Amino acid sequence: MSKIDDLMARGTDLLGSDYAILCGAMSWVSERHLVSAISNAGGFGVIACGAMTPELLDAEIAATKALATRNFGVNLITMHPQLFDLIDICAKHGIGHVVLAGGLPPKGSLEAIKASGAKVICFAPTLALGKKLVRSGVDALVIEGMEAGGHIGPVSTSVLAQEILPTLGSEVPIFVAGGIGRGEAIAAYLEMGASGVQLGTRFVCATESIAHPNFKKAFLRASAREAVASVQIDPRLPVIPVRALKNAGTEAFTAKQREVANKLDTGEVDMMAAQLEIEHYWAGALRRAVIDGDVENGSLMAGQSVGMVSAEEGVADIIATLVQQAEMALHTRN
Ligand SMILES: Cc1cc2nc3c(=O)[nH]c(=O)nc-3n(C[C@H](O)[C@H](O)[C@H](O)COP(=O)(O)O)c2cc1C
Repeated sequence: MSKIDDLMARGTDLLGSDYAILCGAMSWVSERHLVSAISNAGGFGVIACGAMTPELLDAEIAATKALATRNFGVNLITMHPQLFDLIDICAKHGIGHVVLAGGLPPKGSLEAIKASGAKVICFAPTLALGKKLVRSGVDALVIEGMEAGGHIGPVSTSVLAQEILPTLGSEVPIFVAGGIGRGEAIAAYLEMGASGVQLGTRFVCATESIAHPNFKKAFLRASAREAVASVQIDPRLPVIPVRALKNAGTEAFTAKQREVANKLDTGEVDMMAAQLEIEHYWAGALRRAVIDGDVENGSLMAGQSVGMVSAEEGVADIIATLVQQAEMALHTRN
């Protein structure tokens, strides 16, 4: 067994893949084509359910199954109003891995997923919450730093890895995400006690990704410093920051926050509805860029690793490069 297989063993056992390299769910991007390509190439693809209805998820899983020869997972957002119906759809299809994103799992959701026989993977934003999730019976954790694309927490990947891996790394498999663009970083996190990694940005420009050519072009041109976190403009309206390439849409988000904050002031919406409106705004803005190719006004969600995305390549080549870089790093270090 090679060193990388050895270090990834707990991750690959859990996922049933050749490599413990997850392609993190990306709304609009992580659909049947990319997800099946990742899994077929030995990684682990995850469908982004996002705001899909149970009927749409049902169809997307069926279509992915038709293309995939290996396991794949489904990412569900905890605040989805039909979360339990979505869990039922995953169960109906015998999905083996459900990733819960967007906050702590609501009461009964872990139990519902586990009752279907699926493994549950959750995001741990802090060590304390990671411990709580492990006690609640999650099968694996993802720790995602603020270098990542999309919705982000406040802490960097390197700090989260140091805080969480030494304590929880021996209890459940942990996948490190955020800012990973090359295999050397994968090797480093594996040596620190991770069982695998999750990448998003690096896979957006894969040949198999249906992202619009304009979206891919923006990624290929961008450098790390252009992937910036959104700014909260009103202290009364907490919005989760989103990392994306700077464009006219970045300004539009400021205006959107003002509009929603005003509605909050006048009592037209409550806090829950205000935050949901912000999330719907992001989903629409991302669709506009990923699907319609409007890279000026849509959202170009991207992580800082975007500077390391330099060509459109097939998924199998991307995975082979990452694994080769990681193997080389492990070989020269030991
Ligand atoms: C365009 C884009 C959309 C994303 N959408 C989601 C999503 O819907 N749900 C989710 O849990 N994570 C989402 N993410 C985060 C990824 O799943 C992954 O954790 C992240 O990209 C890893 O960091 P990296 O971008 O530095 O590789 C998204 C990321 C990107 C770049």
